[in-house]
Amino acid sequence: MLVTSKEMLERAKVGGYALVAPDYYDNNSCRAFVEVAEELNQPLILSFASEVHDDMLSLEEAALIGRYYAETAKVDIALHLDHGTKFETIKKAIAYGFTSVMIDASSCDFEENVRRTKEVVDYAHARGVVVEAEIGHVGSGERYSTDQDDSIYTEVEAAKKFVELTGVDSLAISIGTAHGHYKGTPVINFERLNEIRNALDIPLVLHGGSSSGDENLRRCATEGISKINVFTDFVTAAFESVKKGNPKDWFELLKMSDEGIKDVLRHYFKVFNCIE
Ligand code: 13P
Repeated sequence: MLVTSKEMLERAKVGGYALVAPDYYDNNSCRAFVEVAEELNQPLILSFASEVHDDMLSLEEAALIGRYYAETAKVDIALHLDHGTKFETIKKAIAYGFTSVMIDASSCDFEENVRRTKEVVDYAHARGVVVEAEIGHVGSGERYSTDQDDSIYTEVEAAKKFVELTGVDSLAISIGTAHGHYKGTPVINFERLNEIRNALDIPLVLHGGSSSGDENLRRCATEGISKINVFTDFVTAAFESVKKGNPKDWFELLKMSDEGIKDVLRHYFKVFNCIE
């Protein structure tokens, strides 16, 4: 069933687990994610990063596919726009039926981030859609532990003020993860997570889940993060599964890719403390 992410996030926050938010990029990945959620009887935040993956799938195509699988699913599925930086993209996603959107103005200064987030919150809330924003900046794994590192850790007071000024529903914070593969080893600042969690009432989100280490992610999920975004690990597993399986034809290749994706999602449902 297609739902908003509001209640499922609140339940995760109280329950001490993190929802899995996988990014789909085509019909097969979308279907694979929903099939695993149904198999494990778990809610899912089915995400699409339109501005990153529109060479694979347009926002309109993604909405039609995502809504179809969400609406026909036996479990709760929120359809989420990931990393919307343009108001235009966000308005379109809402018009096409996404039930949750991210406004990512984390590269802007504090005032501009507040202004752009508030604009989206007002627009989305008037249409029954929930909003995630980011404060601090989760940078790129390729630059991690180098002098080019573009991550900015979230400050507790800034996060508090940001939430008060914007009325956002959930907040992505930067505590040591990064997008994509890491240069070096990810180090998570659990103390900062604890401080932010104690200072804020709304659910917290972690981006850059891939290759962050199961132990780190488990701790994040049980110590205050209510949603973890994962992308790179799925495409890596799909490719590895095909390479290892040596498919005899195209259809076998597609099946192997689906199985690679599904195994990663099953794994993360366990790591994020959603299931035993
Ligand atoms: P990874 O590709 O590092 O898993 O990051 C995904 C993400 O945060 C999408 O918003």
